[in-house]
Amino acid sequence: MSSWLLQKLARGLQVASSSRPPQPAEEPARGKMRSSCIVLTAVVALAAYYVYIPLPSSVSDPWKLMLLDAIFRSAQQVSNLIHYLGLSHHLVTLNFIIFSFGKKSAWSSTQVKVTDTDFDGVEVRVFEGSPKPEEPLKRSVVYIHGGGWALASAKISYYDELCTAMAEELNAVIVSIEYRLVPKVHFPEQINDVVRATKYFLQPEVLQKYSVDPGRVGISGDSAGGNLAAVLGQQFSQDASLKSKLKLQALIYPVLQALDFNTPSYQQNVDTPILPRYVMVKYWVDYFKGNQDFVQAMIVNNHTSLDVEEAAALRARLNWTSLLPTVFTKNYTPVVQTTGNARIVREIPQLLDVRSSPLIADREVLQHLPKTYILTCEHDVLRDDGIMYAKRLESAGVEVTLDHFEDAFHGCMIFTSWPTNFSVGIRTRKSYITWLDQNL
Ligand SMILES: *[C@@H]1O[C@H](CO)[C@@H](O)[C@H](O)[C@H]1NC(C)=O
Ligand SMILES: *[C@@H]1O[C@H](CO)[C@@H](O)[C@H](O)[C@H]1NC(C)=O
Ligand SMILES: *[C@@H]1O[C@H](CO)[C@@H](O)[C@H](O)[C@H]1NC(C)=O
Repeated sequence: MSSWLLQKLARGLQVASSSRPPQPAEEPARGKMRSSCIVLTAVVALAAYYVYIPLPSSVSDPWKLMLLDAIFRSAQQVSNLIHYLGLSHHLVTLNFIIFSFGKKSAWSSTQVKVTDTDFDGVEVRVFEGSPKPEEPLKRSVVYIHGGGWALASAKISYYDELCTAMAEELNAVIVSIEYRLVPKVHFPEQINDVVRATKYFLQPEVLQKYSVDPGRVGISGDSAGGNLAAVLGQQFSQDASLKSKLKLQALIYPVLQALDFNTPSYQQNVDTPILPRYVMVKYWVDYFKGNQDFVQAMIVNNHTSLDVEEAAALRARLNWTSLLPTVFTKNYTPVVQTTGNARIVREIPQLLDVRSSPLIADREVLQHLPKTYILTCEHDVLRDDGIMYAKRLESAGVEVTLDHFEDAFHGCMIFTSWPTNFSVGIRTRKSYITWLDQNL
């Protein structure tokens, strides 16, 4: 495919150089047209070469995914260039580009009322669905959007549409938290924001104001938002001062650990679009405001090598050779370095903090968690984070639904509308909302 394009491009360039002699005076228009054609062919060929990436045939709508990935990759490259020139932090620029694809102001329809407000100083967008005639009190989900703790917003059309669909189909109140992002704030400020907003919401008088049933509130989030939701779930299940308990947690392709970047899914999806491995590791380092020079060493697990004492006891909690079924481990082998780089966790101790890696929590913490839904994608470095958490929760006695999609890629659940509509986006969202409907 790409070599065919390169040949075509080379031929185009040959034609271009052979047409270098000045055109006869009577044919300027035709000459101009010919060279625009050549330029156009070259641009198209280069664009196609840039867009094309090999993808497993089992992934949903591969051509569309390639285009989406190319757009996201070029946005990242532009942001990196602007960062390099010292004009702005790359994540700020990238977020600016993401916002340009559609930010929505608060709006309302006959079905859903959308308001922007703040809960104890934390911005939130509240989606109020209409109540069912037979039930005066509504169900509710606190939603935390994804984006590597650094990107996206409750107000971009993707998350606005997701929460609208939830509010409408569940006749529920959805609170989408606009927590602060990297590089403005770093770990654990994102956690503090979602904890503060959720605690405020769970107060009896606030729930009453929104006509929410205190016994039917859940927490949910996708990707880095799934990480924050899992952390919040663990903190709330141990907090005796809370009057209302969360009824459930629903984690969508969550990020759950920073100790092993060589789980079978990390190995299998090193270059899989939307979230290649090095991009995920960079999000982690930025979340901790750490030194990006460590990324390459972390990719080979040098931060949790056998000579790093701090990691020794924790490694067994994400031992995927015993936690994952063989259908996922395939022929992959663990990457455990004998000697690594002990400086990494000394400079970034947050890497081993349970508030960043909820997968490594004690069994005593896990056993108090509410009913759990975890959605995983086959074509995602984070697949095994989710599957291992499901396994550890189940062993601790928690009721878990693991919803795995063979043709899914990371981030797919927000891609349901044209032009970024994916069949697997529609199916994952349907499955997620159905589970909430049956369990909340
Ligand atoms: C990992 O650590 C070993 C031992 O210190 C070192 O030789 C190797 O270069 C490191 N690898 C990377 C990618 O930093
Ligand atoms: C992981 O589990 C395997 C199989 O149960 C076991 O042989 C191995 O020692 C464990 N590794 C760690 C680090 O706990
Ligand atoms: C996306 O939407 C367009 C227009 O509604 C439709 O023709 C197309 O089949 C959809 N694609 C997928 C994969 O759902």
